Formats: sequence, structure tokens, C-alpha cells
Amino acid sequence: MRFSLQVCLLALAPSLALGAIFPSNSHVQMLDPKSFKKAMKSNQTSLVAFVAPWCGHCQRMAPEYAKVSDKLYPLIPTYAVDCDEEKNKPLCAEQRVQGFPTVKLFPRGNKVAPMTYDSGDRTASAFYKWATLRVPNHVTKLSKAGNIESWVDKTKEENTLLLLTKEKKVPLLWKVLANKYYGKLGLAAHRDDDGQTAKDLGFDDSTKVLIYPAGDSKPVKYDGATKIEPLTKLFNSILDGTADLGTANEAAKTSDRPDDEL
Ligand SMILES: *[C@@H]1O[C@H](CO)[C@@H](O)[C@H](O)[C@H]1NC(C)=O
Repeated sequence: MRFSLQVCLLALAPSLALGAIFPSNSHVQMLDPKSFKKAMKSNQTSLVAFVAPWCGHCQRMAPEYAKVSDKLYPLIPTYAVDCDEEKNKPLCAEQRVQGFPTVKLFPRGNKVAPMTYDSGDRTASAFYKWATLRVPNHVTKLSKAGNIESWVDKTKEENTLLLLTKEKKVPLLWKVLANKYYGKLGLAAHRDDDGQTAKDLGFDDSTKVLIYPAGDSKPVKYDGATKIEPLTKLFNSILDGTADLGTANEAAKTSDRPDDEL
């Protein structure tokens, strides 16, 4: 199927404001110039829709965008900017928004140049695929168990974490974390579908995350939930030196969403 790119042009903007177009219970967060700047500083892959409430194409896109925001939450934040609002106009101009909606992906906050969605297929599934495939990949994939030792050796001056996963592909959560902490923590992944690698490393076969503290080639097992919130807490505590790596983590077992679990 082919889609023509249908946008509302800036020049045709009526002066009438029609109010919010995204359902208030969705995970789409409206941004203004200040919160945009803050969101960009977080170094996360994020999706931003530049819209105008009066634009029919935006109104038609809104339920799909809300749907993808729920699907991407909490791994990829989704935002929107109402370019009809006076205070947002300089931001929309700076982002070279010429028609509505303009959907952009910021691969790593403002550290990597954004890309613009250029298909007329504005469905939740198309957005989902487009966004998740474009999370920069900073995970070192260790295909063979035999590669682990040399990776540990090569990175022994850094704090690194190894994911033992049953999945063939590196889970999105791990990619999201590797991208957010790029330059600060080194993340690797190894497929250990039968738990044999964990056992060979001296751990039980349910082990999912091993921490290799800088300057130490002996790993510590992470026992907390493998979800974004407790892992973010763990990562931050490794970086600020407060992580108790002896008894690595009774990190909160929060978040009841199944799809952000490794
Ligand atoms: C974002 O990345 C930059 C370096 O690229 C770093 O200096 C900064 O601390 C990072 N911000 C956060 C919130 O992690």
C-alpha cells in the first residue's frame, strides 16, 4: 500500500484553537520550550509530534499516536508540541516544522540529530516499528560464551553489565538503557537460553544480569527486577558509587507492566 504524505500547511492556519487532541489518559506528554529542553537532556530515544489542534491530519493521527505512546511506555517517551501556541512557535520554527503533523525521533536526546517520519502511514504499528528500530545500538553482543572473558578483560577499567537472555534479539529495554548510559556504563548481552553460561560462571541458571565493577573481573549478580525503573536505580547507584555491590540489590519490584521486563 502506498500512502501520500498528507499534512496541514502552516500558511492555512485558522486563528481558532480547538484544544487538546490527545486523550488525557494516554502517555503523550505535551511539551513547551522549557520541558522540551529538559526532555532532550535525558539522552533518551524519544518521539515528538509537532501538531496543530485545528489540523485534520493531526486529529486523525491522535488516537494512533496515543496508542503507540502507551505501547512504548516506559521505554521510549512520546511527546507532542502544540505549534499553535504562541510560546511554542519559536521551538517549532527551530525544529523546521513546516506542516502538521511532523513526527520526529530524537535518537539520543539532543546528542544525535533527529530524523523526521516521512511516511503517510500514521498508524500505531508503523510508528512503533519506526521508533524501536532506530534506538542506537550500543550493546556489545557476545554471541559465544567464549567471548565473555575477553570482553571482561578488555573493559575491566569500566563499570559494565552483562545481560544473559533467553531471547535471540537484544531486548529493547537493554538497548534503551545502553543508549541512555552510553559513555558511562558498558552493556553487553549474551544469549543463554538454557542457563548454561550462568552456571559456568558460577551462578544459578536464573541469573539475568551480572555486574562487573570497574577494576574487578569478578561479577556480582543482580537480584532485583529486570525492569526499567529498578535497573535505572541500580545504574545510577553504580555511577554515584552508592551501589552496594556485595549484596547487589533488593531494588524495588515495582512496575506491573509485563512488556518492559527482560
Ligand atoms: C547525557 O550525555 C552527556 C554526554 O553525552 C552527559 O554529559 C550527560 O551527563 C548525560 N545526561 C544524563 C542525564 O545522563
